[in-house]
Amino acid sequence: MHRGELFLLLCVFSVGSASRSCIRRHQIHTLEGEPFYLKHCGITSSEHKNETAAIRWFRVHASHGYVELNTQSSPRITLQSHYLEFWPVELEDNGTYFSQVGNDHQTWTLIVIKRNEHSCFSEKLVINKNVEVKKSLLIKCENSSYSELINHTSLYKNCKEIVLQGLLRGIQKDAEFEDGGYYTCVHSVHHNGKQYNLTKTYNITIIEGNSKITPAILGRKFDTVEVDLGEEVELNCTALLNKNDLFYWSIRKEDRSNPNVHEDTNMTTWTSEGKLHAFKKLTFRNVAETNLNVLYNCTVTNEEATDTKSFMLVRKEMADIPGHVFMRGIIMAVFISVAVVCVVILCVIYKVDLVLFYRRLAERDETLTDGKTYDAFVSYLKECRPDNGEEHTFAVETLPGVLEKQFGYKLCIFERDVVPGGAVVDEIQSLIEKSRRLIIVLSKSYLTNETRLELESGLHEALVERKIKIILIEFTPAGSFTFLPPSLKLLKPCRVLKWQADKSLPYNSRFWKNLLYLMPAKAIKPWRDEAEALPVLSTP
Ligand SMILES: *[C@@H]1O[C@H](CO)[C@@H](O)[C@H](O)[C@H]1NC(C)=O
Ligand SMILES: *[C@@H]1O[C@H](CO)[C@@H](O)[C@H](O)[C@H]1NC(C)=O
Ligand SMILES: *[C@@H]1O[C@H](CO)[C@@H](O)[C@H](O)[C@H]1NC(C)=O
Ligand SMILES: *[C@@H]1O[C@H](CO)[C@@H](O)[C@H](O)[C@H]1NC(C)=O
Ligand SMILES: *[C@@H]1O[C@H](CO)[C@@H](O)[C@H](O)[C@H]1NC(C)=O
Ligand SMILES: *[C@@H]1O[C@H](CO)[C@@H](O)[C@H](O)[C@H]1NC(C)=O
Ligand SMILES: *[C@@H]1O[C@H](CO)[C@@H](O)[C@H](O)[C@H]1NC(C)=O
Ligand SMILES: *[C@@H]1O[C@H](CO)[C@@H](O)[C@H](O)[C@H]1NC(C)=O
Ligand SMILES: *[C@@H]1O[C@H](CO)[C@@H](O)[C@H](O)[C@H]1NC(C)=O
Repeated sequence: MHRGELFLLLCVFSVGSASRSCIRRHQIHTLEGEPFYLKHCGITSSEHKNETAAIRWFRVHASHGYVELNTQSSPRITLQSHYLEFWPVELEDNGTYFSQVGNDHQTWTLIVIKRNEHSCFSEKLVINKNVEVKKSLLIKCENSSYSELINHTSLYKNCKEIVLQGLLRGIQKDAEFEDGGYYTCVHSVHHNGKQYNLTKTYNITIIEGNSKITPAILGRKFDTVEVDLGEEVELNCTALLNKNDLFYWSIRKEDRSNPNVHEDTNMTTWTSEGKLHAFKKLTFRNVAETNLNVLYNCTVTNEEATDTKSFMLVRKEMADIPGHVFMRGIIMAVFISVAVVCVVILCVIYKVDLVLFYRRLAERDETLTDGKTYDAFVSYLKECRPDNGEEHTFAVETLPGVLEKQFGYKLCIFERDVVPGGAVVDEIQSLIEKSRRLIIVLSKSYLTNETRLELESGLHEALVERKIKIILIEFTPAGSFTFLPPSLKLLKPCRVLKWQADKSLPYNSRFWKNLLYLMPAKAIKPWRDEAEALPVLSTP
């Protein structure tokens, strides 16, 4: 059967019987201001009625023997069947009493204890009880002697009211160490229109169980602790153990005399399970070289088991980069890489502009020392037929108009610079040799007639002797040049410029920039005249 049910059954039984037990003890302690009774022992219920009249009560007085008590003796005293009742008992009632039934005498010494003004109970009137931890702690607030008169019951722990567990009129739980304390039951008793308090106090002490545990040190069995020399370090050891188990640090002889190494006294607390939690520190006030790489052991032991934990002090690693610094470094590196990549991409895109800008800034001039006369030899279709008029104009007017007038280059244009007569072949050969670049204005009909010669000697210079660089200007869109000599196709794509009529016309257009980029660096001699410079070039 469940403990609670059993208790309830007992409870019902005791209330039903409502019997008042007689008190055989000679000395009775009771509390001032509370209801109290004395009952003569040895009267059986069969004799009950007949003996009522026969029982007599006396109080012993030190000075004048004894005095019989009757209802006139004190308004607080009632004589009921074979009870002497006090409503309530007071300090003046302290003394010796006896009852007489026939020849039968019974004596009691009543010690009335003064009420404690500052507490809900009197320390002289407590019932000491030990409860083993984890076992049931049961406190019932009941007094069967007055059960019919009680109409309210409350329970206090260390004079603080606690909630009663329903029908139990008390508390029941598994004992824990913090449950120890003074539990006071206060019954409110009603008699003749007056309220009285009936108190009973238990001094509950929670004691440890008998079952022993295996002592153990908590945490890992081996710990390394990183230290700097001269630092203060505490090694912490925590163990779960029984009361009489040994718990200690093993300290080497040389450390025992060292004031820097100090074993702290053990701190202990009880766990709620009734085990002892002990904590012991080994303190190094000033870590020295000799303390490093030594095992410091913390041991807990009893007859049955031993557990040890070892600590080792090691020197802190120096080059340890703290985590946040490392993170910041990575972020910086990524940021810088991205920035570098961006700059490189921009440089590639604006290479031409950057080079031109640099040339202007540094006033670089590649043309001074190579002993050549012309910056470029312009090779173009010389015959001015109606179907190649634009091309002719470009080579003879547009090209020199920009390169010579705006940028100070000196071009060699056959039609303009070569005096008629003389050996054309030799002439061309030597002119190309005197030029730094060979600009070929490429068109459909270019590869016919005598320009072939220029092309060939130029290609020879460029590809075999590497004396001249070729700049190819596609005047008519490429693709139509199916007849190009294979060697010309070897030219790097960047050395081929496409003329895009109107779009290329302004001298700040990409076409001219690219052309300038391919031309040798030359310090610009500003001999251009403004009138011609501004409207750039007239559309052909
Ligand atoms: C009560 O006492 C009288 C004599 O004193 C006796 O006659 C009677 O039987 C007793 N009654 C009981 C119930 O014992
Ligand atoms: C009460 O009575 C007891 C014994 O008779 C005595 O020792 C004690 O001092 C008395 N207390 C008071 C308050 O009179
Ligand atoms: C209550 O119990 C504890 C432990 O047994 C004891 O030390 C203390 O003196 C007791 N208190 C009183 C008032 O008897
Ligand atoms: C009931 O209260 C009276 C008066 O204080 C006391 O003598 C008696 O022991 C109490 N009975 C129980 C069961 O606590
Ligand atoms: C206790 O019971 C009496 C009558 O029996 C009543 O007058 C009184 O108010 C009750 N007190 C409480 C707190 O219930
Ligand atoms: C009874 O005890 C309560 C507290 O538990 C208190 O407030 C009340 O005054 C007491 N009554 C008497 C008559 O002592
Ligand atoms: C030991 O405990 C203290 C606090 O009580 C702490 O400051 C210290 O770092 C601990 N030592 C180790 C080695 O964990
Ligand atoms: C505290 O340490 C001492 C010394 O080792 C030991 O004798 C004692 O049992 C320890 N106390 C507890 C409660 O573990
Ligand atoms: C700790 O224990 C190890 C063996 O487990 C032993 O070698 C060492 O000397 C011990 N340290 C101390 C300080 O007793």
